[in-house]
Amino acid sequence: MPTYQFTYQEYTSEGELDVSQAQLLSIARKATEHAYAPYSNFRVGAAVLLSNGEIVTGVNIENASYPVGVCAERSALASAISSFPLEAIVSIAISYVSPEGDNAMPAFPCGMCRQFISECEDRNKKNIVLILAGQTGNIVVVNSSKDLLPFSFSGKDLK
Ligand code: THU
Repeated sequence: MPTYQFTYQEYTSEGELDVSQAQLLSIARKATEHAYAPYSNFRVGAAVLLSNGEIVTGVNIENASYPVGVCAERSALASAISSFPLEAIVSIAISYVSPEGDNAMPAFPCGMCRQFISECEDRNKKNIVLILAGQTGNIVVVNSSKDLLPFSFSGKDLK
């Protein structure tokens, strides 16, 4: 039977990450403070590292008309692409603060964000490394959004 498998890394502390990944995660953790999440109180922060070394952050921005809200990942990537359209996106770190204050587990990007990141990778012609962690606890590093989105739909399907 065909099986889908992928490899990812899991670390117990930031000290085990590359310095640039540890810095990006720390910026994503801090960015949660800027989230606008009055309805869920689930505050998400994302930080995008570009090939020129620039770091662009994003947060979730909710709306009284709930579906209008945007996730932190898409907000960070939209900002990065708007400001630096020609720079490749190297990685994105994502963290959160939950209303329960239980922030020790990584939160994985929602399906819509996986699809969005996947197209950013296609546009980039390069994988985007995902660094996922709560405010504390283990850190998961995934090599590409595509590892989290098998059998994905893409622009190729529209050709
Ligand atoms: N959220 C994100 O920002 N990123 C995700 O990948 C999952 C969910 C936000 C959307 C909403 O504002 C809140 O978290 C609760 O779902």
